Amino acid sequence: MALPKSILVVGSGGREHTLVRTLLASPAKPRVLCAPGNAGIAQDAPCFPVAVDDVAGLLALAQREQVELVVVGPEIPLSLGLADRLLAAKIPVYGPKADGARLEASKTFTKRLLLKYKIPTAAAGFFTEIAPALAYLHTRPVPIVIKADGLAAGKGVIVAQTAAEAEAAVHDMLAGNKFGAAGSQILIEDCLYGEETSILVVVSGRDYVILPTSQDHKRIGDGDTGPNTGGMGTYSPADVVTPALLDRIDREIVRPSIDAIAAEGIAFCGTLFIGIMLTASGPSVIEYNTRFGDPETQVVLPRLETDLLALLWAATRGELAGFSLAVKSIHALCVVIAAKGYPEAYAKGDVITFPSTLPPGVTVYHAGTARNDAGRIVTNGGRVLGVTALAPTLSQAATAAYATCDAIQCSGKYFRRDIGARQLNRR
Ligand code: AMP
Ligand code: GLY
Repeated sequence: MALPKSILVVGSGGREHTLVRTLLASPAKPRVLCAPGNAGIAQDAPCFPVAVDDVAGLLALAQREQVELVVVGPEIPLSLGLADRLLAAKIPVYGPKADGARLEASKTFTKRLLLKYKIPTAAAGFFTEIAPALAYLHTRPVPIVIKADGLAAGKGVIVAQTAAEAEAAVHDMLAGNKFGAAGSQILIEDCLYGEETSILVVVSGRDYVILPTSQDHKRIGDGDTGPNTGGMGTYSPADVVTPALLDRIDREIVRPSIDAIAAEGIAFCGTLFIGIMLTASGPSVIEYNTRFGDPETQVVLPRLETDLLALLWAATRGELAGFSLAVKSIHALCVVIAAKGYPEAYAKGDVITFPSTLPPGVTVYHAGTARNDAGRIVTNGGRVLGVTALAPTLSQAATAAYATCDAIQCSGKYFRRDIGARQLNRR
C-alpha cells in the first residue's frame, strides 16, 4: 500500500503536536504540515496561519500544498463540514463528515441513537421548555446531570448535587443565553457512578480497530476536585479495563455503536472516542466524541508499534478489515501544564523556559504556546504543555514526567500532582 507523501494536520493543541510527531516518525517519511499549529509544532513542521473554523481556507491550503491526506484534530471543523468539502474536492481525509460529527455536536442526537439501538447508557429526558423539564426533574433522584445539546467546549454539562442546583442549570440553559444556541435543547440524564475510561476507536464504515486504553483526569484539582476541564492528565494502559472487560465493552458498546452508526446511513471514517462509565452493573456510554481525545492522544499514540500513518490511511481507504495493531508493552503518563486560573480566566504571554535536556522517554508536547516579539516561547492558552513519559512501569513514568514538570520554568504554571495516583494506589 503506497502511503501518502504529504499530510496536513488541522489543529493547534497537544493532540495535534502528538499527531504531527507520530506521523513524522512514519517509515514512509512523509512531509507533514499543520494549520494553525503552535510554537512547538512549528519546531517540527511548517505551520500555516489558517484557523480551524476557516473551512474554505483549509480547503484552499490543502489544494495549494497538494497534500495527499488531511488529518483533522478538533471537532469544530468536522461539525462545520470540512471533511465533506475535502472529499468533494477529492482530497482524502481522516475525520468524519458533518453527519458523523453530529455524534459529538448533538448530545440529543446521540442519546436517541443509543436508546434506539439499546446500547447501555443512562436514562434521560429531552426538553426545550422549562416547565416540563422541571416536572421531569422532580421525578428523578439527585445527583442528576443537565446537558446542553450542542458543542459548549466542555462546559455544557452540569452534574447537579441538589434539586436547587439542577433547577438553576435548567433555567440557565433554556432561558439564559449562557450556552447560546447550544443550550436551546437539553438532556436531563440520570447520574452514573464509577470510574471513567476513554475508548478510542479508529473507524472505517463497519470496520474498526480499538486503540490502547487510557484514563483522563477531568477535574482541575488534585483528588478530582473543582470544575471540569478539557483534561488535566492521562495514562495508558488503564489497568481497570482488564482484557475481559475490554471484550465486554467491545461486545456491548463498540460493535453495537459502529453498527448503529452505519445503520443510520452515516459512512463514518475517523476516530470514535467513546466516553464510558464503568458502573457496578456494567459499562455505560457517557458520550461520543468524533476525534482523538486530548490529552488521551499524548499517551495512546506513543505506545503504538504500528505505523500510525498506515493505520489512518487504511481507514480512509476503507481497508481496515483485518488490520492488526501492535502496541508497545510500556506505560505512558501525561501531565498537562495549564495556565494558573484555567478553566476560568487566565493570563497569556508568560515566558516558558525549558530544561536543556529531558530524561529518557520524556516528550514535551505543546498546546497553548506561541512566540512573542522577542522570539521567546510564551503561554497562549489554558492548557499550555503536555509532558508525556514512557517507562516500564507507571510509577517510573510518573517520576520522569513530574521531574520534567518541575524543571520547566513558567511563572503562571499549574498542574495536578496526582496524575496516575488512582492506578498506582490500587496496586
Ligand atoms: P461530557 O461533556 O458528556 O464528556 O461530560 C463531561 C463530564 O461530565 C464527563 O466526563 C463525566 O465526568 C460527567 N458526566 C457526564 N454525564 C454523566 C452522567 N450521566 N453521570 C455522571 N457523570 C456524568
Ligand atoms: N480529554 C477529553 C476530550 O478530549 O474530550
